[in-house]
Amino acid sequence: MGKNESIINELIEIISAKGELKAYVHSFGCQLNVSDGEKIKGVLKKIGYSFTDAAEDADLIILNTCAVRENAEDRVFGIVGSMKHLKDEKPDLIIGISGCMTAQEHIVERIKKSYPQVDIVLGTSAINSLPKLLLDCLNGRSFAADIAEYADFSEGQEQVRESTYKASVPIMFGCNNFCTYCIVPYVRGRERSRKADDIISEVKQLVSDGYKEIMLLGQNVNSYGNDLECGISFPQLLRRLNEIDGDFIIRFMSSHPKDATKELLDAIIECEKVAKHLHLPVQSGSDEILSAMNRRYTAEKYLETVEYLRAYDKDFSFTTDIIVGFPNESAEDFEKTLELIKKVKYDNIYSFIYSKRTGTKAAEIDDRISDDEKSARMRKLLEIQREITTESYKRFIGKTLRVLVDGESRKKQGYLTGKSNEFIIVEFEGESSLIGSFVDVEITDAMNWAVTGKLLK
Ligand code: 5AD
Ligand code: SF4
Repeated sequence: MGKNESIINELIEIISAKGELKAYVHSFGCQLNVSDGEKIKGVLKKIGYSFTDAAEDADLIILNTCAVRENAEDRVFGIVGSMKHLKDEKPDLIIGISGCMTAQEHIVERIKKSYPQVDIVLGTSAINSLPKLLLDCLNGRSFAADIAEYADFSEGQEQVRESTYKASVPIMFGCNNFCTYCIVPYVRGRERSRKADDIISEVKQLVSDGYKEIMLLGQNVNSYGNDLECGISFPQLLRRLNEIDGDFIIRFMSSHPKDATKELLDAIIECEKVAKHLHLPVQSGSDEILSAMNRRYTAEKYLETVEYLRAYDKDFSFTTDIIVGFPNESAEDFEKTLELIKKVKYDNIYSFIYSKRTGTKAAEIDDRISDDEKSARMRKLLEIQREITTESYKRFIGKTLRVLVDGESRKKQGYLTGKSNEFIIVEFEGESSLIGSFVDVEITDAMNWAVTGKLLK
């Protein structure tokens, strides 16, 4: 019996002797982190925990954190602070912090110093160490941590998935790009790709289990395979996955524009199961800012990629990420971002005010732009994007979209909501039994956040 296995067996005995123990696992941030949260739940399920959505009912709380922006970290500290009273009421409660925040030394120091209610700190690649840390705590240890970097990424780790029809499949971990604002390369380490065969068998299994949407995840999926000796490229992986039998859709995120090769764009066009939507984070429309960000493409090069897909389909759907207020972004630089979003006509943008991350290159720049100015730019960006979305969603009126139904609409009774192949939110009247299946909806109206339509029989 392996060491981890004997720890797991010991835990199973301890936990079953205590009766039912409940765990509350909450993931912040990106979908890769959500996927890690599903693996953490997989470990906990194996050793006998059940799950609760209410932290106050839990015997074990794990906050799976994000470090991309400061406000995400502040939120976690706020929540951990407010959990002190839970620990006072229930001294056996175990509180753990995992995810990207734990990869920053200054954060771990702050937790140790100011948040004694935290029992476990679990590094981003240390999910396999969770049983050992839990055993230590259940045996009375007040603080247990493992923040070492491990090369293996829990291949084969059972997951407790959030959805029964949409599955996230990480294909690689880490990032080599070192965009100057970004903490990810420091907290997630260098790029490590999973073996293509492991990914393909996982997707085959998911499809045969009835999953309808497969979301391939990585910080930069386009560099998938570069680190493998006899690996295949990301476009080749897409083509292999496209050959799997079954009715499902393949999505992926995120792509770095500098690596969006013709080979990738052709694979998107030619693979019928790959969604006709590209999330392509541009970050800024100004070449000076893009260079200061170390993005290694120009606005013109980015637009060439957009044009290539628009030549195939003039309505091809794009979404993007934009950072507003990168250090010393001038009014002219910001204007160039506005020009770019008007040219591309994104269906949606995810925009963020620049957040200074200790340890990154950009954090060393002396920034002369005020917070008020940055907020005003953000408001302007959102206002203009709203107009673009309203206008561009009109192109769907009269068309029939294939929609994967997600749930009941929170706004209108009797209505369902789902995502089209193009990643557009679609609302329509229908029965909740359709949730998790594909339906055809004829679009009759467009708003600035979704389109509405009629379910076709
Ligand atoms: N400040 C603001 N936004 C950031 N992002 C990454 N780092 C930062 C930062 N320091 C944004 C980028 C990225 C998205 C996931 O988060 O737009 O594409
Ligand atoms: Fe961060 Fe850039 Fe890597 Fe994306 S590509 S994770 S923004 S360093």
